[in-house]
Amino acid sequence: MKELEFQEVEIRSGGVAFKASRSDLYRANLCLRTAIRVLLPLVDAVVASSDDLYEMVGSFDWTRIMTPDQTLAVDANVRDSAITHSQYAARRVKDAICDQFVRKVGRRPSVNPQQPSVALNLHVSRNRAVVSLDSSGSSLHKRGYRVAQPAAPLAESLASALVAASGWPGTLPLVDPFCGSGTIGIEGAFRVLGIPPGLTRSFAFQGWREYRADVFSAMREKLRSGNPRPELPPILLSDWDDGVVKLAASCVRAAGLGHRIKPFQADARELALPSGPPGWILTNPPFGERIGEAKSLRNLYRQLGERIAAVATGWRVGLFTSDASLAASFGQGLGLASHDRVAFFHGSLACVLWRYSLA
Ligand SMILES: C[S@@+](CC[C@H](N)C(=O)[O-])C[C@H]1O[C@@H](n2cnc3c(N)ncnc32)[C@H](O)[C@@H]1O
Repeated sequence: MKELEFQEVEIRSGGVAFKASRSDLYRANLCLRTAIRVLLPLVDAVVASSDDLYEMVGSFDWTRIMTPDQTLAVDANVRDSAITHSQYAARRVKDAICDQFVRKVGRRPSVNPQQPSVALNLHVSRNRAVVSLDSSGSSLHKRGYRVAQPAAPLAESLASALVAASGWPGTLPLVDPFCGSGTIGIEGAFRVLGIPPGLTRSFAFQGWREYRADVFSAMREKLRSGNPRPELPPILLSDWDDGVVKLAASCVRAAGLGHRIKPFQADARELALPSGPPGWILTNPPFGERIGEAKSLRNLYRQLGERIAAVATGWRVGLFTSDASLAASFGQGLGLASHDRVAFFHGSLACVLWRYSLA
């Protein structure tokens, strides 16, 4: 957020707050690479019960936000509070809004959980409830280039965060030998080329009453044409599964990078690196939780470590996995004890990016 020069950026529990004009809100949705959604808080209070919540929501004038002809949905998130059931809390919020419309105009909006015209978010933490307008709609990790679902994909926002955390400078080669749908390489290229991740998708705010299509289109056009794009260093994506390679190639093309990145079929245990200056290997090999069994994977990680030790002098390695014993097997193969680690969540799964530097 600081890179994008947003103002009054403040880290909060589970999110980041910032001060935004209307166009900042549009720009945040278009440009943030690691955010999941951008929320606009409308009303908040300390609530000791669901009746308090109902009252709090009823104290806000909802006719400012929507008409009874629009549809609504409430997504709720409740933790460490007297209110314990998210779904019930969401229903109380919806009831408070609909009851207010019935009182004021004699009609109520209907609910459309799939494609609401107004998406609301309720967050209750330690009895503090906040109801916000969700300006994003579907999660911002959905960029629009994942044209088919691979077996165990990384969320695009997580892949982008890994690229940042790996320290890859964007001027040296980037290699992902377990590329799956190619997310790490695509997000790496987006960063270097300054391509905003949300350029080709739509957002919930486009259905708001005060949406300014002219402001949004002008901003998107400006971001699309961008500054002159810098050169991309080699980005090498490979996977041993031919079907997966084809899928990666479709995603790369859908991301507009087909002329720059060509995924290919290769076994990571026979990794070959480009000649020239050493770069970064950043990868997310299979880990037992989702595909394959940890036991047979231990060999794969060790062999990968051995191969990298043999061919990657001077390279940096970022290995992303949930399984510390697999990372240990990799370290054994590599013959290098020293590393550092950055903790992440992959959905609800605690994972680590293990970082190594090969002298
Ligand atoms: C966890 S997925 C990677 C997901 C990827 N980061 C994405 O965003 O789609 C692991 C991938 O490793 C591939 N794989 C497994 N063993 C391999 C090997 N020995 N060599 C190359 N690829 C392998 C699988 O086909 C799978 O696509």
